[in-house]
Amino acid sequence: RQICLHMSEYFKLNGRMGRTSSYSTIEKINDIAVNQNTKSFTSFDQVLIRRREEARRSIIVQVKDEKSHTDLLTYCLNFGDVNNTYYYTVDNDESRKKFILIEFANISGSEKAIFNGQHSELENILPVTSSFLWFRTDKKKSKLRTDIAPLNIDSNDLPSSYELDQIFSNSNSFSDDMILLYERTKLGEIGTRLRFITALQLEASLKGLFHSCQVLPFGSSINSFGKKNCDLDLIFDFNEKKNIDSSRLMFHSKTLAGTSKIHNQRHLETIADIIQYFLPGCCNTRRIFKARVPIIKFKHELSGLECDVSSTNLSGVYMSELLYTFAAYDWRVCPLVFTVRYWAKEINLTNPAPGKWITNFMLTLLVLFHLQYEKIIPTLQTLSKSKREKDKKIFIDNDYKMIDCGFLTDLNLLKDPETEPNNDTLLELLFKFFEFYSTFDFRLNAISLNSGTLIPKPVYDPLYIVNPLEKGLNVSKNVSQEECNKMRIQFRNAAWNIECSINSINGTSKKWGLSHLIQSHILNKDGFSKVQNMKGSSSTFVVKHLFTNVEETDSVKKTENV
Ligand code: GTP
Ligand code: MG
Repeated sequence: RQICLHMSEYFKLNGRMGRTSSYSTIEKINDIAVNQNTKSFTSFDQVLIRRREEARRSIIVQVKDEKSHTDLLTYCLNFGDVNNTYYYTVDNDESRKKFILIEFANISGSEKAIFNGQHSELENILPVTSSFLWFRTDKKKSKLRTDIAPLNIDSNDLPSSYELDQIFSNSNSFSDDMILLYERTKLGEIGTRLRFITALQLEASLKGLFHSCQVLPFGSSINSFGKKNCDLDLIFDFNEKKNIDSSRLMFHSKTLAGTSKIHNQRHLETIADIIQYFLPGCCNTRRIFKARVPIIKFKHELSGLECDVSSTNLSGVYMSELLYTFAAYDWRVCPLVFTVRYWAKEINLTNPAPGKWITNFMLTLLVLFHLQYEKIIPTLQTLSKSKREKDKKIFIDNDYKMIDCGFLTDLNLLKDPETEPNNDTLLELLFKFFEFYSTFDFRLNAISLNSGTLIPKPVYDPLYIVNPLEKGLNVSKNVSQEECNKMRIQFRNAAWNIECSINSINGTSKKWGLSHLIQSHILNKDGFSKVQNMKGSSSTFVVKHLFTNVEETDSVKKTENV
């Protein structure tokens, strides 16, 4: 704690590591972020409704290249006015496919465009209709319109590590690095639109059977923590919740009786076949049914997305809404979460394959919990206390129990958030995060976002993060002791690295910042060389924690042997 205070004084005195004194591009971004925070809050539901409606008004057309824009628009304006057009590309094994997304002003525009679409007669194809089309060349040259709005070219590609290093090399402070990382890697407009259009394609294909079904994106595609190439998590919801007592006409239906897990699996099998055999663009379908939550994985070649579909309950969407609400509370939440997730990926703490390691989702909960602990964002209990009737979120959990996990979803109505004013810079928050978890007793304590406090672990799992919506579950149940230890050591190394980098601020070469944090880890990959470096350091912080680390690792080993 003393070191934190010392550092925060240091940052405030030293402009380079905190906010810059001159008005840089970054400060403009910073100000935008602050302004966004004072803007009125748009709820998750409002975003979902707007994006789904926008997707219904949109079509995606494969084109020869971006020069086809005028020709395509001249043709499509016959169906209705157009609001926006976006260009994007998808790299497949041997080729780069090019597409234009057209958003019509009204739903009649996209409906007419699809109704007028035609299937190729040259190939032996299944005549499936969807909002994914391609633009045929026209032999007769029609007159092109000149009043066409320019095409939005929004890069959908994630910058490489090299490109990010270049971007960071011009920044003035560590906090600026964090904002730049967030701005350059966050999911953009085209990425978000593609996710909703892909969800709608699947929904449309199942509507004939389940008239009121919904296929909803969840996870990082929608919770504000998505980066440009994140996967698309989808939930298929039957959504028959009408309760019209007055209706006397009842549908004949099949029963969903008995062991629902087996039924769920069979239904997913059928959906997987529809995706694989009927839906244009969808390929490489895999069925992962042994997991706690069975999922179908597939690749969408026309939107370039890796997709996961599940169909158990809506808790994933509710979780996304909760994370979205926390993210919207303070502008620093997103840059901080992005930094921690980026750092963890670069040092191989997280892994794209499922397994015993920590995931992006768990890291996000760790960051959010720490911000609650610092009283920067509200706890879930505070949000739940203020919930309205319409905020109720009832779902049936895996044990067929009804759960209401509702919380206030409109931050404009939150009267007493029970937070405290805090002006920490992003770097200060990052350092405090690393420091907090490097001294955290993972053996005894669980993390609860409900109360924002530590609670004793109910069972011995190496890492225990209470599932905020299903309180009896640990979201980090799969994390092994080894990975938990590794994570804590890395938190400690990162805190140490940040502390040391302060001393090099006045040097000629840039020995601080996000790239430096990651490169130092790579240079010190070998644990022994790191320990020697740490022993050689004069920092009391490092020495103190080096010894607690050795003691705790020993005691963990002893426990494991017992
Ligand atoms: P990235 O895909 O890595 O960008 O992040 P993500 O948040 O989308 O994570 P992931 O695709 O692994 O999971 C999607 C969503 O499923 C998460 O955002 C959570 O809402 C939910 N989720 C993931 N893991 C768990 C878990 O262990 N328990 C529960 N209850 N929900 C989970
Ligand atoms: Mg995901």
